[in-house]
Amino acid sequence: MTAYDIPFGVEVDFETGAMEAADRVIVRRASGMRGYYADADALEQIISSGDPIHYRVYEKAIPEQEGHLLFCMSVLEPGRVGREFFFTKGHYHTVADTAETYLCIRGQGIMLMKTTDGRWAAESMRAGRMVYAPPFWAHRSINTGPEPLISFCVYPAHAGHNYGDIETEGFPKRVIYSPSGPSLADPASLC
Ligand code: PA5
Ligand code: NI
Repeated sequence: MTAYDIPFGVEVDFETGAMEAADRVIVRRASGMRGYYADADALEQIISSGDPIHYRVYEKAIPEQEGHLLFCMSVLEPGRVGREFFFTKGHYHTVADTAETYLCIRGQGIMLMKTTDGRWAAESMRAGRMVYAPPFWAHRSINTGPEPLISFCVYPAHAGHNYGDIETEGFPKRVIYSPSGPSLADPASLC
């Protein structure tokens, strides 16, 4: 029996994305994103100019056991590394047949998803829109707007995170700035 086997409530701030009384806040700075963006030099410049926070994830320490739900608030800052908009690393779940749902609270962006057999999908994220990442689909959020991209996410607590081929291969598309709006580019076109 843990504190999380007893009903509880928690406040979240829709303006900042902060979860009151979070048990942990995962903070990823620019320096934690080395190897993920196409323009490594642009990332190094951002790191040397103060290594700003890319994103934060606020969580309660729900037991990572089947039956429980892990939920979080994800706050992804706006910005670009070269032509690419800021994104989260992205991952599969270690228990691959577990899904996840994201409800966007503030901002605008794209959720890129892919499978190990080569399929991919992009769903827009904006306040009030929910995106579903089915079992087996890796998921990465990208902030294409001028304000923080804030989402509430929830998934089976035993799912775990598997960064697998994302660290080496990334996603089949990169989301880049263009004067007419965000566009999806083939990774080879940015090399
Ligand atoms: O499980 C999720 O999708 C979230 O809790 C993410 O872990 C969070 O958004 C951070 O993303 P990543 O683990 O890809 O850095
Ligand atoms: Ni996930």
